[in-house]
Amino acid sequence: MERFEPRKFITKKTQALHSFASEKGIIVAVSGGIDSIVCFEIALAATAKSNEKPIPLMLETGLLRVNEVKKTEEYFRKQYGIELQKWEVQDRFLLALKGISTPEEKRKTFREVFYKTMGQALRSYSAEVLVQGTILPDVIETQRGIKIHFNVLQEAGIDPQNYGILLFEPIKELTKSRTKMLARSFSLPPKLLKTQPFPGIGFAARITGEITIDRIEKIRAATSIVESELADPKIFQCFPVLFIDKVTGIQNDTAILGDIIAIKAVESKDSLTAKPFNIPWMKIEKITKRILNEVPGIVRVVYDFTPKPPGTIEFV
Ligand code: XMP
Repeated sequence: MERFEPRKFITKKTQALHSFASEKGIIVAVSGGIDSIVCFEIALAATAKSNEKPIPLMLETGLLRVNEVKKTEEYFRKQYGIELQKWEVQDRFLLALKGISTPEEKRKTFREVFYKTMGQALRSYSAEVLVQGTILPDVIETQRGIKIHFNVLQEAGIDPQNYGILLFEPIKELTKSRTKMLARSFSLPPKLLKTQPFPGIGFAARITGEITIDRIEKIRAATSIVESELADPKIFQCFPVLFIDKVTGIQNDTAILGDIIAIKAVESKDSLTAKPFNIPWMKIEKITKRILNEVPGIVRVVYDFTPKPPGTIEFV
């Protein structure tokens, strides 16, 4: 395999973005994760000699974790002295996703709302270019028909210009581990390097069946518990999933119908394959107790021990 040289790669992409986008105005779609922040660094380097700086924009989709936008806002202030632009568009995402329960339709609906909103954002900031952090596994899975990732357009037969977007995806040919090499090369904070991937469609990937505010609140609360209890460098991703089924439970000596949550932790290098991470039994017990006690309406917690393949990492 050809040796990967992060510095050379950064220079190549910086120059490419500079010639593609000079004077066009750039928005970087930011999620708070490592891929989009690496893209922001590339955009900063590409505009180093220009008066026009890239605009970091984060969409509050209503499907994000506790304080996710706030943390990203603080990161941009501290790291770059730049104000993150936040668009509170949860209503449009939740309205579009209302009544949809199949995985592919969820991802396609999310994609449609996301790119329409980004097109609108470009017009409102008088910019033309959208930089986004799609990585190789997203493209490969979409091309192989395993899963249409919301952030893959051309390979899914969609022209970004339909949304008024000139798209630039600097790390599209990179794996996660190579993206991390770029992050180290940019001297990004070690804390950021340790963050787990979080799907672009957020909790829409972790709720089976219909997405409602009530169900998002449940998975958000359970996610905070899982993330606070599980910290092991070997874990690629760990998270809970909320099932569609209602099952029997007991409350105050009476039968009730409640929800099921699965907890899951995987080890993976490139997200194309994954194996279950062996969570210590005591930990599973503690997480289960906390979810049952702290998240209203959950009556059952199960542990997903499925590798990828045949499972995918997310449930949707
Ligand atoms: P799967 O579930 O396909 O996930 O095994 C592989 C990796 O991709 C993330 N993921 C997504 N990322 N858009 C994204 O940007 C998506 O639609 C999407 N679905 C899954 C997932 O968290 C894992 O890291």
